This record gives sequence, C-alpha cells and structure tokens, in this order.
Amino acid sequence: MMILRCIGMRIWCSHAPGTSGSLARRSHQALCVYARAQNGLGRAAQRAWRPVRVGQAVAFLMGPALLSLGGHVVYCQLDLNNNANLFLEPKKKLHAEPQFNWREFWKLLRPQLWALLAASLLAFGAAILNIQIPLVLGELVNVVSRYTREYTGRYLQDMQKPVMKLLSFYALQGLLTSGYIVLLSRVGERVAARMRKTLFKSLLRQDVAFFDAKKTGMLVNRLTSDVQEFKSSFKQVVAQGLRSVTQIAGCFISLYLISPRLTGLLVVVMPTLVGGGALIGSLLRRLSRHAQEQVAKATGVADEALGNVRTVRAFAMEDREEELYSIEVDKSCQMNEVLGMGIAVFQGLSNVFLNCIVLGTIFTGGSLMAKNKLSAGDLMSFLVAAQTVQRSMASISVLFGQVVRGLSAGARVFEFIMLEPQVFLHGGKKIPFHSLVGQVSFQNVTFSYPTRPGDEVLKNFSLTLPPFKTVAIVGQSGGGKSTVAALLERFYDPNQGAVFLDGVDIRMLDPSWLRGQAIGFISQEPVLFGTTIMENIRFGKPGASDEEVYAAAEQANADGFIRSFPEGYSTVVGERGVTLSGGQKQRVAIARALIKNPRILILDEATSALDAESEQVVQAALDRAATGRTVLVIAHRLSTIMGADLIVVLSQGRVVEAGTHSALLNKGGFYAELIRRQAKELK
Ligand SMILES: Nc1ncnc2c1ncn2[C@@H]1O[C@H](COP(=O)(O)OP(=O)(O)O)[C@@H](O)[C@H]1O
Ligand SMILES: [Mg+2]
Repeated sequence: MMILRCIGMRIWCSHAPGTSGSLARRSHQALCVYARAQNGLGRAAQRAWRPVRVGQAVAFLMGPALLSLGGHVVYCQLDLNNNANLFLEPKKKLHAEPQFNWREFWKLLRPQLWALLAASLLAFGAAILNIQIPLVLGELVNVVSRYTREYTGRYLQDMQKPVMKLLSFYALQGLLTSGYIVLLSRVGERVAARMRKTLFKSLLRQDVAFFDAKKTGMLVNRLTSDVQEFKSSFKQVVAQGLRSVTQIAGCFISLYLISPRLTGLLVVVMPTLVGGGALIGSLLRRLSRHAQEQVAKATGVADEALGNVRTVRAFAMEDREEELYSIEVDKSCQMNEVLGMGIAVFQGLSNVFLNCIVLGTIFTGGSLMAKNKLSAGDLMSFLVAAQTVQRSMASISVLFGQVVRGLSAGARVFEFIMLEPQVFLHGGKKIPFHSLVGQVSFQNVTFSYPTRPGDEVLKNFSLTLPPFKTVAIVGQSGGGKSTVAALLERFYDPNQGAVFLDGVDIRMLDPSWLRGQAIGFISQEPVLFGTTIMENIRFGKPGASDEEVYAAAEQANADGFIRSFPEGYSTVVGERGVTLSGGQKQRVAIARALIKNPRILILDEATSALDAESEQVVQAALDRAATGRTVLVIAHRLSTIMGADLIVVLSQGRVVEAGTHSALLNKGGFYAELIRRQAKELK
C-alpha cells in the first residue's frame, strides 16, 4: 500500500513544474525509501507477532509513545530467555526488601568476566554498525535521487558500492548480534548456575530454626524463579542497555552532523514525549496489575466453590456461590475494559505523535532541502537515525523497570546466600571413637524456640543419661520431650544452661561429627529418600560397603523383608518411602541409624505410629540395637519403656518425677496416674 502511495506520488511529482517540483521530487524519494523501510519493519513485526496478553501489550506500550509497532514487537521478541511475559509477571509486594549485594554478585561474575567483556564488545560493535547503516542508506538514496534526476545510464554501477557496503554491514551486524547473544547467554547461564549452587549450599547450612520460620515453597522459589528473573534481567540489561545507549549517543551525533537544526527540533520534542509515554505506560501497568489481581480473585472464588463442591451442595449454596462469582467477574470485566480503553487512547495518541514527528521532520527537512541545505539522502538518513533513537529510548525505558525487577530478584537470592547460620556444620572437637563413653547430661537447660521466644518449653531442665543405660522420658504430648532430643542433636542451642557429652559442652564439639557419628536418631515418622533401599541405609554412613549395609539391616530386623522383594536391596522405595509399610519403613530407618554404629541412640516415639504387630517386630529390633549404647527413649506408649533403667516424667518443661517403673508405680504420683489412664484406654 505504501509502495502504491509512493508510485502515486511519483506520478504526481513528475508532473509538477519548477523548483517546487524538484523539491517535491527529492522529498518524495526520501519518503518512498523510508516508507519501504517502515513497511518492511511492519511485515517483520507481523511475522514475529504472536498473541500476547493485555498485560504484555501494556508492557510493550509502556515505553515512549513514539514507537511504531515494529520497534516494540522487536523488543518483545528480543527477550533472550523465551519468557514471553517477562515484563509483567505479577509482582511480589514490596516490603522490607533485602538489599542487592554487589560484592557477592561480583564474585559470581568474575569467572565470566572475559566472556562478558567480549559480549559487550560485540554488542558495542553491532550498535556502531546500527549507527552507520542509516548513513549508508542515505548514500544509497542520494544515488537513486541523482539517477531519477539525471537519468544517466550508470545506475547499476553507481549503486554497486553503497549496496555492497550496506550488505556487508548487514551481514556483519548479524554476525555480531548472534555472537554477543551466544556469549551473553553463556555468561547468564553460568552465573545463574553458580548462583543456584551457592544458594542451595547456603540454604542447606542454615539453622533448623530458619526452616521453622520459612516456608519451603518460598525457599524453592528463590532457587527457581528469582534466579531466573535475575538472569533474564541481567542479560537483557547488558545487551540492550549497552546497545541502546551506544545507539542513542551515536545516532544523535549523526543526526547533528546531518542537520543541527532538525536535531534541535528533535531534542526538544522527543524527551517530552518519551517522558509522557513512560508516565502513561506506568499508569497503565498499574491498572493492568489491579485487573490481573481481580481476575485472580474471581478465580479464587470459583476454585473454592468447585474444590468444596460437597460442602456447597450440602448447604444448598449453589445460587449464592454463583452470585459471588458473577460479582467478582463483573468487577474484573469492568477493570479490563477501562484498561483496554487506556491502551486504545495511548496507542492512538502515540501513533498521532509518531506521525506528527515524521511529518514535522519532513516538513522542516523539506524546507531545508528547498534551500539546498539538505539532500534527499540526508533526510532519509535522518529519518532512519531518528527512528533508531526512538527505538533505543523505548527500549531503555522498558529496561528501567527490568533493572528494578532484576535487582530485587537478585537481592532476594543474595539475602539467603549471605545469611550465616548460628550453628555451623563443621568445626570443633571430635572425641575419638574408642575414648567416647557416651554419658550425656543436661544441666539447668532453659529453652524456648526462636520462632516463639516468650514460650519456655524447657525450664531449668536437668537430666543425666548414664553410659550404656536406657533412659525413658514420658509425659503429655507437647510437654517438651522431642525438644530434649532436638537439643541433644544440637538443632538448637539452649538459652540457658548446657548439654554435655562426656563432660564436654556440645557447643565445643563438631556438630557434623556429633550428628553424623556420635548420635543415631530415629523418629516417629522416618523419611526415606526416593531411591533404593541400599542407598537409603547407606545414607547413614556414606561409603559403607554392601556387607555393612546387610549387617545393619539384619540388626534392624529388616534383612528378611528386604530380601523377599523381587529386587531385594535395589528396590526403589518411592517418594518419601511411600511404597513401604510403616513397619518396614521404620526398620529401614533403624538400619540407617545403626550403620553409623552410634554411641548414643535417640528413639523419639519410634513405634507409636505402628500397628501392634509391626510394633513388636520393630521393638525387638530396637531392643537389640539398644545394647551397648546410651539410649534416650521418648515414648507415649508405656509398654515400650517399662524396661528402661530410668524413667523421667516431663511436665510443662520440668522433670516432675524420676525412678524405675516399679519405684514410680509405688510412689503413686504422675507416672502411676499415666499408667492407670492408659490401662483404662486399653480396656
Ligand atoms: N519447631 C518448633 N517451633 C516452635 N515451637 C515448637 C517447635 N516444636 C515444638 N514446639 C512447641 O514446643 C512445645 C513442646 O513440643 P515437643 O517437644 O514436640 O513436645 P512433645 O514431644 O513432648 O510432644 C510444644 O508446645 C510445641 O508446640
Ligand atoms: Mg514429640
């Protein structure tokens, strides 16, 4: 269509007489080439165009109002990470955002420095070429215009030089562009990989209290989407930021060299429009975010109703749910309509302004051409260079938002990379196996969980576990029994008092040695990993031989049932061990604890989730495991603790009674009461 219009103009122009005719001819030549360039861009844009959501549309409109569709879509497509909706992911609320740590970032980036420099260099080169291309286009137009004016026969010859030059520029620019994208994605991917590894390492080392306070989903999010967002922003900002700044600077110089007067005009008009466009763009983005939230709200209503359809039906609330949903949907419909109107006005205005700028340039440029101060080629160069500036400015205004998002995603990642745990995993004394006796004593321990500072779970708690003896702790649920075990494992440190192993404060001992070798811990609901039984048992002692694994399994009464599986020890237990029965799982867990041959064994309600039959098998395994060790048994069921050397009754964080089974029964206190109540329940 554009071309047709050009042809039409050409016919009209060729009939126009006098100087004004030659002026018109010269300017229409510039226009034709410009129009063709525009048209090409438009078509390229249509090819690259894929359906985008309203949000994305706003995102790409967010830039200055100056842009034609082509330029914008190019920017949408240039996202190096295939994240189509990168610009407009629903943002997390800004509250007490962590700070971006540049030093840590530098550490991650340093190994990639050369690749980054090379990428920057190539991007810079591509930008310089982009500045040159309008100038060569101008040369080309000058040849064309000379030819149409003079009709001398050397058209092909004259065209050859600028065409070849232009082609080689295009080719070189393509090469440089793909080169820097390759390098930059290498840098981005490697930095992201290191970021993930560093973060994961740091997370694994955090205190148990840290995990009490944080949701797993949030932590996993930092490993995945935050790193991803940081990476995308990083690549985009480096590539496009560098290109855009170079192009703006370079093109402005060319513009100035071509025509200082026209440039003066642009300098006044363009920033105003860019600023205005960015402002309206950000308003529209906010609108779009609200609209998205409203859609989510409506979906939430539907989700709840459909998910709990039995409850809805049982209360005959279908009509009410329908009404609730339709209210929310209407709201979101309204908001999206307003948003659509905003986008429409914005796009309309930006088209008008864009066209006015082109018109103004041609108008002013035309008058310069009439005075022979400007050639047709110069006007052409000017228009293309001005468009490059517009596009670069648009991209920079998009990049500003990207920088903010990238920095805050990076800051969220670095927050946990930089977090130092209070209890380190390694460092401290190790007691050699043969001199380790296994006497444990809690002395005046007062403790409250870090997540609930006011609530003292243990108060002035003292208890000694003699070596080779079994001590049982009983008491109501919530009385603090598991807390005692957690303190011995040094998952937490006491607020007051201390825990000693063979007379050494466990804070002086190496925590990994303490947990990994000195203590074996078996809990009520053991968690197995989704691998083979062999590997699960070996988890207790990495590098253990197959024979050691078999021996541990035998000790745990597990060898028999494991061998009865068709695949024996190679049986994969499923996620968290779901394919094993409770009793089997527990026995694998016992084998896993026994393979380290720990001096101290903690059994925290190890049999209470089992049915009577498996309880017996597991109990037999535990009894065998207890010999020759210091054992702390925490139990709800009294059948499991009657044989203990010492029984301690814990109530509200204090030891209220201690003695053997018969002594405590005779005393007729708390323990006797517990036994009586349990006997009654059994009946
Ligand atoms: N990780 C934790 N963070 C905060 N409070 C906890 C945590 N674990 C347990 N508690 C609280 O500490 C108290 C003692 O819990 P626990 O030692 O598990 O009791 P028991 O094992 O005797 O049933 C309970 O009030 C419980 O709510
Ligand atoms: Mg417990």
